[in-house]
Amino acid sequence: MANGDQKPSGPDFTKGIAASELAEGAMLAGHVGDDEVMLARQGGKLFALSAHCTHYHGPLAEGLLVGETVRCPWHHARFNLQTGEAVAAPALSPLTCWQVEERDGTITVKTRKAPTAPKMTAASTNDRIVIVGGGAAGFAAAEILRRRSFKGSITMLSNDSSAPVDRPNLSKDYLAGSAPEDWVPLRGDDWYAENKIKLSLNTEVTALDAKSRELLLGDGSKIQFDKLLLATGAEPVKLDIPGADQKHVHTLRSLNDCRAIIAQTKNAKRAVVIGASFIGLETAAALRAREIEVHVVAPEKRPLERVFGPQLGDFIRTLHEEHGVKFHLEDSVSAIEGQRAKLKSGGTIDADLVVIGVGVRPRLALAEKAGLAIDKGVSVNEHMETSARGIYAAGDIARWPDLISGERIRVEHWVVAERQGQIAALNMMGIPTPFRSAPFFWSQHYDVPINYVGHAEKWDTIDIDGDVTKRDCLVRYKLGGRVMAVASIYRDKDSLEAGLEMERRAGKPMA
Ligand SMILES: Cc1cc2nc3c(=O)[nH]c(=O)nc-3n(C[C@H](O)[C@H](O)[C@H](O)COP(=O)(O)OP(=O)(O)OC[C@H]3O[C@@H](n4cnc5c(N)ncnc54)[C@H](O)[C@@H]3O)c2cc1C
Ligand code: FES
Repeated sequence: MANGDQKPSGPDFTKGIAASELAEGAMLAGHVGDDEVMLARQGGKLFALSAHCTHYHGPLAEGLLVGETVRCPWHHARFNLQTGEAVAAPALSPLTCWQVEERDGTITVKTRKAPTAPKMTAASTNDRIVIVGGGAAGFAAAEILRRRSFKGSITMLSNDSSAPVDRPNLSKDYLAGSAPEDWVPLRGDDWYAENKIKLSLNTEVTALDAKSRELLLGDGSKIQFDKLLLATGAEPVKLDIPGADQKHVHTLRSLNDCRAIIAQTKNAKRAVVIGASFIGLETAAALRAREIEVHVVAPEKRPLERVFGPQLGDFIRTLHEEHGVKFHLEDSVSAIEGQRAKLKSGGTIDADLVVIGVGVRPRLALAEKAGLAIDKGVSVNEHMETSARGIYAAGDIARWPDLISGERIRVEHWVVAERQGQIAALNMMGIPTPFRSAPFFWSQHYDVPINYVGHAEKWDTIDIDGDVTKRDCLVRYKLGGRVMAVASIYRDKDSLEAGLEMERRAGKPMA
């Protein structure tokens, strides 16, 4: 439906459009009554689907058609054109499909199609699948298992007190106060029971016995599995400085962490953010939206230069300064004495709220103690299977053979974690599926979204197409002439094409 009182834009498809208006490989947004619908012509066939992505409402007609799928311009979710199924995260819910007709040179759309259940593509087993972790990878795995009609039992164990949440929102709209809390859960509480997923919250898994296929829980009980997914994520690095254990000093990972920060924003006037990381800077932006004075203290010369290079680093700094953030770079906090953060350079900053965002560490303890192969992460093959048969790992803990860079890599990206959870699930179901997506992440600073596709730990050349300062750019990170990664601002289609190109270079792109 169109938002609020706004009338849906574009042509009225019930009245028909000339067939010549929709060339092969093109998309067109319009409407059917109040419903926003998009048309696509691909491979000689016509498709009509909801015009907006089920993740955050991205405009699909501005995305990319690839085979029988459309990729969303905002965060690269993929939908099947025929069925509307969300075949790759971050979208998880399907699009509505419509009947479309081409007759006498006119294309018309009038009625919705009945939803089609996703096809079972291989064996359904009666295995007991246990998932350790109720985050991006764990949730996406459980969701697709049931979506693809897995008949066995699914148990999800999480030491968090909240059911799986949209974690990226915790440093963006929810923290800024512009999204209500009911946007945050990935699914409502009833969904788990309705889908026969046993979700045990506040449940710590303390040991894994890979041979006897058993987990030990914090209360001393044991649970057996046939297939296991480890998706324990990462935890914020704690700062070993005096005063870091005070009530007004926070890290940000869980919904509870976020609630605690929000509770203190009610009376806070000035905040110190330690670390110019993604989470640190997104937190700074969210606190500015709450009109809190924000100081960012970090050791580097330029924020995010290690990931984005100097040009985008300078842009991000200027952007935050334009919104009133004060940077204390090439500096660090040596102690927090009550409400005073002492700087290594000698000064102090008064702050009634401190948020530490100095990076995260993958939670590897379970896998390590169980004797699984570890290489700065849990080593997995392209099917996300660890060194122990039937035990899989996905998300922030997994180091996998990335076909695009040709290296084994581990990243901390929401979309990667969800997709790896989905791929692990298909493999656990007995549907052999390699993980072949180009890594993707996005970050949001005020009204500026930055998308990044690929993976470049180092580069020898940065090519900039467009103008970073005008918020219109495609930044290519190259090594030996090869594009390793591409960052972009408001060049969504170029970003999608860059990801596709990387996947094609590496072999067949994932559907
Ligand atoms: C505030 C914030 C904002 C972010 N924004 C973005 C963004 O904009 N874009 C982006 O690409 N990425 C973003 N990220 C990163 C992204 O959220 C992570 O990469 C992603 O959540 C990783 O998924 P995961 O499933 O591996 O781990 P998680 O989502 O962290 O889930 C791990 C789960 O395991 C549980 N667990 C851990 N150990 C145990 C145990 N022993 N027993 C039981 N349960 C256990 C935890 O409680 C948790 O439920 C953000 C992260 C944060 C914290
Ligand atoms: S809005 Fe489509 S993937 Fe996020």
